[in-house]
Parts: sequence; C-alpha cells; structure tokens
Amino acid sequence: MLGALSMFSGGRGSGFGRGRGRGQEPPEGIPAAFRPEDPAEGLSVPAPRSAPAGREGPSPDALSEGFGHRPVMPAECLEALAVRPDGSYADLTLGGGGHSRLVLDRLGPGGRLLCLDLDPEPLEAARAWAASDPRVTLRRGSFADLPAHADAAGMPPLDGVLADLGPSSRQMLAPERGLSFGSDGPLDMRLDPDGPVTAADLVNSLPEKELADLVYALSGERASRKLAAEIVRRRRQKPFATTLELAEVARRVVRPPSSGKRVHPATRLFLALRIEVNGELKALEALLSRVRDCLAPGGRLAVISFHSLEDRMVKDLFRPGPKSIPRLWDPLWKKPLVPGRAEELANPRSRSAKLRAAARTDGPAPDSQAAGPFAPPGPTAR
Ligand SMILES: C[S@@+](CC[C@H](N)C(=O)[O-])C[C@H]1O[C@@H](n2cnc3c(N)ncnc32)[C@H](O)[C@@H]1O
Repeated sequence: MLGALSMFSGGRGSGFGRGRGRGQEPPEGIPAAFRPEDPAEGLSVPAPRSAPAGREGPSPDALSEGFGHRPVMPAECLEALAVRPDGSYADLTLGGGGHSRLVLDRLGPGGRLLCLDLDPEPLEAARAWAASDPRVTLRRGSFADLPAHADAAGMPPLDGVLADLGPSSRQMLAPERGLSFGSDGPLDMRLDPDGPVTAADLVNSLPEKELADLVYALSGERASRKLAAEIVRRRRQKPFATTLELAEVARRVVRPPSSGKRVHPATRLFLALRIEVNGELKALEALLSRVRDCLAPGGRLAVISFHSLEDRMVKDLFRPGPKSIPRLWDPLWKKPLVPGRAEELANPRSRSAKLRAAARTDGPAPDSQAAGPFAPPGPTAR
C-alpha cells in the first residue's frame, strides 16, 4: 500500500529525512496551498513577462473561467514549451485549463494538444472550449501512462509536455474532496474519485510504525511518531471519518514551529496522506521514466512542482551524467524558475512552485531510461 515509501526506502533515513537531524529546521516543500494564512484568491495576475506584444492572449482570470484555479507562471511555461503553431503538445494536468488554453492560443490549425487529468471534473469543464476544437483531445487518466494516452490520441512525437503537479485550488477548496483541514468533509483526498484508497483507509488501517514512517518521509513532520500513536489510540474508539476529526488530533499533538511561522498543525499530516493516497511520487517517477520516448528530438519537458521531493526527482532526471555519456536532456535553466513577487501576491498558491524545463537531446534513448531516474548509477543512468 505504501507506494511512495517504497520509492524512498529506508523511511526516516531517506526522503525528507535525509541528512537532517530531527531537531533541525523542517524541510522545504510544504505547498503554499496548505498554508492557512493564504488570503482568498481574487486578485489579478500580472501580464506574462515574456508575452510578445499583441500575443498576450486571455488573462489568467479569463483562463480559469470560474474554475477557480489560476495557472502558475504562465509566461515562464510558454517560454519553456516554445510553442510552434504546427507543433504537438501535451498538458498532463489539465485542471482549470489555464495552461492548456495558453498553448492552444498559440497553435495554428495544424497544431495538436492532448489534455489529461485523473479527475473527470476538469475534463467536463474543458468541453466548453475544447469539444468543438479538432486540435484538442481530452483524455481521463494518469500521466504515468502518457505513452498509452499519446498513442490512443494519435499524437505525433510531442514538441512539448507540461506537468503542473498536485491538486488544483478547486480540488483543495472543495470540502467533499477532503483535502483541506479548513473545512469539514469526508476523509477522502482522492484526486481520482475512483481511486482505490482514501485517506480514511490509511489512517484507520495502517500499522502505527508504517503510518509514522509515511508521514515523516513524505512531509518531514517531526511529531510523526506521536501523531501516529495518537491516531491509533483514537481509531480504537471510533474510526476516523472526517477531515476535522483528524485535524483535531494534529492540533492536540503537533507543537507550533519554533520559527513562529503560522503553519497549521495538520499541514504536514494532510500533505503526506494526500501524496500517498494519490500515489503522486510513483506517478511522477513513471512519467519521468517514459516521457523522453514520447518527445520529438528537441521537444521540451516542463514540470511545475510544489514539493521538494518532486523537484529533486525532476532535477535528477535533467542532471547530466559522466562526460563520456551522451546527454539525454539539455536543461533550459541552471536553477528552477520561481514565481516573482507580483505573482506570489496575486496568487499566494504559487508561492512554493518551482519550474524546471529541459529539451530532449537528439541522441538515442538508452535502455536505462526505461528504468527511470532512480535506476542505480550505471554507464547510462542519469
Ligand atoms: C495544479 S492542477 C493543474 C492546473 C492547470 N495547470 C491550470 O492551469 O489550471 C493539477 C491537476 O492535475 C491533475 N492530476 C494530478 N495528478 C495527476 C496524474 N497523475 N495524472 C493526470 N492528472 C493528474 C489533478 O486532478 C489536477 O486537476
């Protein structure tokens, strides 16, 4: 059941825990989306920094069209994808469709856009602008299966692929999704409503040690052992059913950070459970191991992550190997791009975003790509 933990095997000694004493600073990677001090959305986003004159396209507000999710770093994503009018692109995380529509706006009649999402709701919402557009194919499913989706959609080798990871603001704020401790709802957390495991399943059934290890590995929560013990004690009386029941346990057990930062005590617990429920690291691992084969030479991969473990996976993929080995990726920038101050103010949920992008080199894909970025170091592993 513990997909992510098996990736970072070693539990406390790896993942977030790597190289950090338990009394030290907490790790990075707590998404802004979880921060309780986030003001409500509703401010406008500045014009994309690199949009050429006359090609600004719709504003981010217009792009979300009531879906309630603003595209993060829109101009930077366009720069990363370098959209050509006749190119073929895939938005692996459709959400409110903001990024998709920016790409579509730059495609000519011969361009193609494949949009994926696990959740049927964004796909339904996208019908309004995509259903009658022959350039767009909407598909439900995981980006872990990108090659199959691209094949089924009859996509040519892709010129650009964008993944904007994690839940959308809309999913975060919907009480019935159970992703937020800010309102009461079923303890669910599935982005795919047909997914096999809910957060309630995990907290009501995992052995105490597994639960503690999971929470620590995926979120760096220092009180993970105490939390797990309290959860197990509480569930003997009555299984957890709602978000607020679980948040209340965290409120009693987790001490506020010594830094004085306002972080809700349940933040890391909810983050870890969401990642595990949705197999988020596993899905990213699968995508990173397969995406190069879906790209045309020179095709771009751009990934927006909100969690340091995800960012590290992307960074590792793009990292060049020994000089004797042909490069597989040419990173566009040495460091990830992050939102500017103006975007952070206009869209607080963008605060922990990091964008990395690289172009597929011309070289042949070595066998080790199939083994993924976590393949043991070898002559062709990256
Ligand atoms: C942050 S939102 C994307 C927002 C979008 N870029 C926009 O501008 O509106 C992420 C979306 O990806 C979806 N998602 C998460 N994991 C996925 C996966 N493994 N495969 C496909 N979609 C996924 C979520 O359901 C959510 O709708």
